[in-house]
Formats: sequence, structure tokens, C-alpha cells
Amino acid sequence: MRTETPVTLYLKDYAPPAWLIDTVDLHVAIFEGHADVKTRLACRRNPAAVAGPMVLNGEALELVSLTLDGTPLDPARYAQAGERLTIDASLPDECMLETVVRIHPDKNTQLSGLYRSKDGYFTQCEAEGFRRITFFPDRPDVMAKFSCAVEADRERFPQLLSNGNPVAAGACAGDATRHWARWEDPYAKPCYLFALVAARLDVLEDEYVTASGRRVQLQIFVEPGKLDQCGHAMAALKKAMRWDEQRFGLEYDLDRYMIVAVGDFNMGAMENKGLNIFNTKYVLARPDTATDADYQGIDRVVAHEYFHNWTGNRVTCRDWFQLSLKEGLTVFRDQEFGADTHSRAVTRIQEVRALRIGQFPEDAGPMAHPIRPASYAEINNFYTATVYNKGAEVIRMMHTLLGRDAFRRGMDLYFRRHDGQAVTCEDFVAAMQDASGVDLTQFRRWYARAGTPRLHAETAYDAVARRYTLTLTQHLAPTAYEKRLAESGQPVVEGVLHIPVALGLVLPDGSDAPLRLAGEPNAVGTTRVLSLTEPTQTFIFEGVPAAPVASLLRDFSAPVLLELDQTDFELAHLMAHDSDAFNRWEAGQRLATRVLLAGVAAGGSGTDWIPDAFVAACGRVLDDGLAGDPALAAEALNLPAEAVLAEAVVAQGDTIDPEAIHTARVTLRRHLAARLRDKLEAVWTTLAPTTAYAPDGSQVGQRALRNACLAYLAESDAEYLQASVVPRLTAQLAAGGNMTNQIAALATLANLDLPEREAALADFYSHWQTEALVIDKWFSVQATSRLPGTVGHMRALMQHPAFDLKNPNRVYALIRGFCGANPRHFHAADGSGYALAADVISDLQAMNPQVASRIARSFDRWRQFDAGRQAHARAALERIAAVEDLAKDVAEVVGNALKA
Ligand code: TRP
Ligand code: ZN
Repeated sequence: MRTETPVTLYLKDYAPPAWLIDTVDLHVAIFEGHADVKTRLACRRNPAAVAGPMVLNGEALELVSLTLDGTPLDPARYAQAGERLTIDASLPDECMLETVVRIHPDKNTQLSGLYRSKDGYFTQCEAEGFRRITFFPDRPDVMAKFSCAVEADRERFPQLLSNGNPVAAGACAGDATRHWARWEDPYAKPCYLFALVAARLDVLEDEYVTASGRRVQLQIFVEPGKLDQCGHAMAALKKAMRWDEQRFGLEYDLDRYMIVAVGDFNMGAMENKGLNIFNTKYVLARPDTATDADYQGIDRVVAHEYFHNWTGNRVTCRDWFQLSLKEGLTVFRDQEFGADTHSRAVTRIQEVRALRIGQFPEDAGPMAHPIRPASYAEINNFYTATVYNKGAEVIRMMHTLLGRDAFRRGMDLYFRRHDGQAVTCEDFVAAMQDASGVDLTQFRRWYARAGTPRLHAETAYDAVARRYTLTLTQHLAPTAYEKRLAESGQPVVEGVLHIPVALGLVLPDGSDAPLRLAGEPNAVGTTRVLSLTEPTQTFIFEGVPAAPVASLLRDFSAPVLLELDQTDFELAHLMAHDSDAFNRWEAGQRLATRVLLAGVAAGGSGTDWIPDAFVAACGRVLDDGLAGDPALAAEALNLPAEAVLAEAVVAQGDTIDPEAIHTARVTLRRHLAARLRDKLEAVWTTLAPTTAYAPDGSQVGQRALRNACLAYLAESDAEYLQASVVPRLTAQLAAGGNMTNQIAALATLANLDLPEREAALADFYSHWQTEALVIDKWFSVQATSRLPGTVGHMRALMQHPAFDLKNPNRVYALIRGFCGANPRHFHAADGSGYALAADVISDLQAMNPQVASRIARSFDRWRQFDAGRQAHARAALERIAAVEDLAKDVAEVVGNALKA
């Protein structure tokens, strides 16, 4: 399983494949301890490529035999070197190649290729896992029609599945204990979309009738006994199918859609044609086991994988540099699905929060890259917040610039031009430009430039002329990415971006001013999208009746850092009156950030830095939450995360002090709890549930606000805490039937140094020990605890019998929970958090390099800390770098961290 020394691949070196594959016939026979894979490839020289040998990828395969057009191939005619099988150039223009290889799925701990999980066999081929099943040109621009026969023990593996339609099945000749099934997929596809499953599973069946009247059989396969946890995923699938017909005119194209849930899986889910494979986390839900956030995650991931059928599968990527072509676009689509089916404003707020926590730091750190990187060593390291989430922002900006109708015409043209092809990001932008007439030449730079642009705004109001002047300036400093490009002699892309800035002007009475740009005869609406295409540009608005407050970047129209000097009074005005719900929330976050940065400057101590006006604004949020939208109120009361505050500290040019950030944030929460106790209590009382649990919009919002209030109340003085809050926490835990409330109470208790904490954790564990996804939550709440001694407790939890380094969900729950969501303890001044991470990464990298590499990304911001912490972090990184035969995934991440 050891890899070659890391080689960097470059986008500029793309060349079409010398050979194409028309059809693939697989026969996979699964035995105890190994599997034998027979492959027939109908090969043909690519008329559009330079003539060359046939190059097949293969990794961890034992070659048993190789025949060409029915005759064993002379060993002199092929060479197996590294992870490649190269067959000489003197082949006929068309030929049939047959290989037999032996593989060892039971030993496959990487979970890439064919692997065993519990009592079944599953595959994961994206990005480069198919080469771990058989020899093949493992690149997405080789698209072939697949048929696959799966053979296994009948008793233990009753379900034998692959892509497309079942065409034949039977008992194995000569061994009645074994059976087989053959599947055929009528659509040509790249091998990364191949899948097979052999397992004992229960199945939930349903049917969907498409807009044009075709019947589609829907099946969700899960571990036996879990059928009562599949209903929500099925409902989500049907909703997503309808939505894609209505919003984009896209119908499903096979007779069958299968989802298989598996407990060992590196990521969320995978869009294999007709046979999605899902992490159980994004399938299984019951009110007593899953939270509101879990239900929403299921909606989104089910929709995401379904939407890939058109954006990813029917039209796929030419090469992996184009990953954002399918991922950015599909995330945008699942975001829009979420916005259309839940609250648009709350959805947007949550997405921007995630972008700020996960993507902005990435763009500022050693792994910075544009949504289409020009080079990579390990493609698995580029399934990132940048490619996915910033990629979705780039699609959204096109949507904003073109408008909904022209964007839809662009999508239609994209499918008309490219259905059945493997294409590039340029092809997508060209379709958008050609269908809309909007010139996107300059806009394309978003695909090539890394980093988060800063947008500086200056405003002036002339009361006599009733004229408002806005001057916008953009800055984008080089990132670690440009350094890496320059070091490898690559051209660096420069130049100004095309930034859509949605703006409104809020008047003193709270209404929006009608917007008339200088030179226009009439006002056009009250929100305008300005195109910033120069380094600096001035926009003049006429007929503005009174000095307004600028509401910039409405609905977060561009992924930038806004620099706009506004007074506390102006921010409070926006919080109260902005017609754009996103910017009402944003104004609150900016105000909170300002307050908290003052607190950080004070070392977190005292409360002098907390203005009464901020407390009053939070009080109004609570009043509005009762009168209006509780979900929005809950978002508004959620102070900026420690990681986001850390970036704000860096933006000021300061060193991150994680203790001061943590203390300031907790101090502010305590202050609010003390000053707003009556209002918090009122909300808690008023929002008590009156009906049975359902994960629907209004209940979700009420629970979010009620639990946010309870968590604030838990910041009260010891006396009130013991008398009034702890009993409610323990009662909420004891009530059962509703995991949202249970986990809210448990996470709150996990931060309190009380005897009730231990009792609650022990009870919760013994009650849920057979539900893996609930036990993940039990690990997470402890990993993210504020309490001193958390690092030591982490060491104990790693020894807990339920912890398993081989299970990605467990590692994410415990280790990523700690390294990624507990900055104060991960960045402990004594280096103990870093040492723990280094230990885990060193052990895990040989077992599962993809997961180890994700954990290693926790070190990204290490240079932004003080000298003491930097020394500890460097030592930890160097210790990982020195591991013998370090997996290249981890080597790339750690290498970049050390060199930046
Ligand atoms: N393409 C998948 C998605 O976004 C995710 C994916 C990529 C993946 N690589 C993977 C899943 C490796 C599991 C393992 O929907
Ligand atoms: Zn995806």
C-alpha cells in the first residue's frame, strides 16, 4: 500500500488519453479473505490523441493473467512499474484486453476501492479508487459502458448490486452455496462512478413517477434492523427529484435509484450512477436518535448526490483539476434546494457561517488554492471547502450577475452542448456567457485566483444635493498558493476580479431608498447589484432623501472580507431595519465581533468592554424571536465562533491568543445571561413544545432558540445554575424521544464541572451504546468541552473500547471534534493538543491516509500563534513528517504547512 514519492501534477500538462475504452465487463468473485476480478476491456485508439502506448493504472493488485484478443500477452510487450501497467505501442487499433487480478478487500483499511465493512463489501472509487479494483485508465475523460457480475456466498451476502439495471442472476455452477447477479449500466461513465455492493441488508422500497410519467423504483438499503430510520431519507429523495424537475427541468434517467448506507465511509456520500453509497450519518434518522441538524444534513446530502446525476454524471469532469465543475455547481444546487424547502435566510446564514469557519482560513493558510488549482500532489487533498463551498459561491455570483432566468438558460445550454461529455470549467462559463450575453471574461479569474479578496468601502452623503457616493476598492494579496506556483516556475495569475456587490441604502426611518444611479432617468428597485470590475470604482446615487446607512453585500453577494467603517449606531440600525435578513444578521455579527475584539484586547478579563447598547440589541433579538422568526433569532444570538474571531485577530495583524478569545467569548455570554435572564426565561417558557416532534421548519426554529436560551442560562452564577438550570438540563436529558433536546442538554452539561455531568454522560452511553451514530455524538460533546483537563480526558477516550481508529465517523467525532472545534484546548500553550494530534496522525496515516490528512489540516494556521505555540506545532509537524513511508496525502499537507 505504500505510494511512490509524491509527484506534482500540473493542469497545463493535460493530454487526452491515447486509448479509449468502449465497454468494460467485470466479474467480481468475493471469497473469504480475497476477491478475484476478471475484466474485459474493449479498447480503441483515440483518433483525437497523439499515438502512444496503453497505460493502465493499478494499485495493490496481484496480476494473475493478461490476454490480448484471447492470447496471453508476451511479458516482453508490457511493463509493470510503480502503479502502472504499460502495454507497448504496437497494438492493433482496436483490441480486447482481458485481465485477472486478485485483491484483498478485508485488508483494505483505506476505504478506497473494494473494502469490507462489518458484514458486507462496498466500493468507493472517486477519485482514484477504481485502480485498486482492476487495471484501468483511471481518469474521468475515459468514459465507458459498464457491465458487472458480482458473485458471493448466498447466505451471507443476499444482496448483490451494481450500477444500472439488473439483467441476470443465478446460482453458481458447481457451488450451490454461492450466487451471482449481473448488472448493466446503459450510460457511458468514467470509472470513478462505478460501484458494487455485496451484503445482507434490509431495503425500504418506494416509487417515483417523473414529470414525463416514467416510473422509477426507489430503494434504500441499510443494515438489518434499521428500516425504521430510513423514512426521512426516502422523503428527501422524492423531494429532490421533484425539485430538480421544477427548477431545472431535469428528470431522472434510469428505472431504478438505489442508496446503500454503510458505517465505514471516508466522506458524506458518493454519487455512483444509479447506486449511491452513503455514510450512515446521512441516511439514518429517527426523532430519538437524530437531531434537527442531522435531519437537515440528510436532506442536503441526499439531494446533493441526486443532483450529481446531471451535474457530475451526465456531464462529468475532463480531469480532476476541474473538480469544482461538478462540486461547486452541485453544492450550489443543494443550497438552492435547501433555500426553497426551508427558510432562505437561515439557510444562507448557515452557509456563510460555514464558509467563514472552514474556507476563509483555508484561503489564508498553507494549503490555499483557487477553486480550480493548477497543480496537486494528491487529489484527495483537494476535496476542500474551497473547491466545494467557495466553488458554490462562484456559481452563485454568476447566478446573481445573470439573474435567475438567464442562469437557467445557461444551464439548459450547458446540457445541450455537453451531455455525455467530460468537460472543463471554461465550458460551463462559456455556456453561461453564450446563453445570457453577459461577458464573463474577467469573471473567469475567480477560477484561477486563491485568497479571500478584501473589499474596502468609503461612503459620503451630500444633504444639499441629496447625493450618495460609494467608492469601492478591491485588494487581493498573494497567498501561499502563489508562492508554490512561483517556486515551481508556474505563471501566476494576476488581475482584478469581477465582484457583484448587492447594495441597499437604509434610510433613517428604516425604509429602503429607491436607487437611481447618476445618469439614470428613474430609480430601479431598492436592491441593486453593482459590478465592481476595476481596482477602484465610484458609484453615485441621486435623489437620496436623507443620510442612509449602507447595506452592502446583501445576501452575501460575494465571498469577500468587507471593510466598511460603520458606527455601533449604524450597525444597530441595520440589525433592526435592514430589509435583507442576511444583512440584519450580519450587522449583529459585526457588532459582536467589534465588542469581542475589544474583549480580546483586554485579555478577556473584566466586562468594561461590553457596551450596554450591545446587551440591549440582544434583548431586542429575543423579543423579536418571540414575535417573529425564532430561527433567525437563534442565529443572531450565536456569537461569532472562536475560529472566526481568530481570523479577525489575524486581519488586524495580531497574533492569535486562543485563551483570550475563549475567555472574551465566554465572558460576553455570561454577561448576557446575567443581564437578560428574564427575557431568556420568558422565551424558554413560551416556546415549550406543545406537539410531537417533527423536523419541520417552525419546530426547528423554536427548538433552536429555546435551546440557545437554555445554554445562555447555563452561563449563570453557581447558585442560579444549580437551583434553576441543572434540573432543566437533566430533565431534558431524561425526557428522551428527542435527540435535538437531549444533545443540546448534554453538550451544555459537558461544559460544567458538576457531578451531574459524569452521571449524564454515563447514562447516555449505556442507553445508546448500540447506536453508533449516537455514540459519535457522545464522543463529540466531550471532545469539544471547555473544561480544563480536556486533553487528558481525550487520551482516556482514545482508549475507550468504543473508540476505533479504523472508523472514520469515530475519528471525526472525537479527533476532529477536538482538533477542529475546540481551539482553546487544541492550541493549549503546553503543546499537549498538538502532540495528541501528531500521535493520531502518525498512527492513522498508514491505515487511512485520506482521514489522517484531513486531521492534519488542523495545523494550517500554526504560524499565526505566539512563538511558544509555534515551537510546539513545528515539533509536532516535524515528527509527522519524519514518519517512515509517510502517506503522500499527509506528506503534501504537512510539507506545505512546514514550508509556507
Ligand atoms: N463526490 C462525492 C460528493 O461530493 C464525495 C467524494 C469524493 C467521496 N471523494 C470521496 C466520498 C471519497 C467518499 C470517499 O458527493
Ligand atoms: Zn459532490
